[in-house]
Amino acid sequence: MTDKELLAAAVKAAENSYSPYSHFRVGAALMAENGKVYTGCNIENASYSLTICAERTAVFKAVSEGVTKFKAIAIAGSSDSDFSKPCPPCGACLQVLSEFCGNDLAVILSNGWFKLSDFLPMRFDKTQLSDNR
Ligand code: THU
Repeated sequence: MTDKELLAAAVKAAENSYSPYSHFRVGAALMAENGKVYTGCNIENASYSLTICAERTAVFKAVSEGVTKFKAIAIAGSSDSDFSKPCPPCGACLQVLSEFCGNDLAVILSNGWFKLSDFLPMRFDKTQLSDNR
């Protein structure tokens, strides 16, 4: 699957966004090392802070199916039908991605190709924990 196709899958995933509060629809398409693609959308809640982002929906879908190794994620977000403006991942999603992905995870946005380390150059991860479990 090309970067363009993965981005198109993210735009398609945004169709299922449940965003009656922000009216900002986000879709993510996460490519696993095994070639499978897990999509996700943002799901909001009347108790606003319980909202989950599209990226975390996709990661949790994959991990809950036993898939924990990933090559790339495409993200698309818009408050209308124009997904041409880039939608970079929020800090919470970066931290969740960083749990499962190395610096080289490809992050594909509408304005190009990036690496996880472009967004999160220094990360808190399990190596900081004293017993490195
Ligand atoms: N959102 C995402 O789905 N991913 C991000 O990385 C940033 C923000 C969602 C959360 C909320 O439903 C809406 O966008 C507006 O913040």
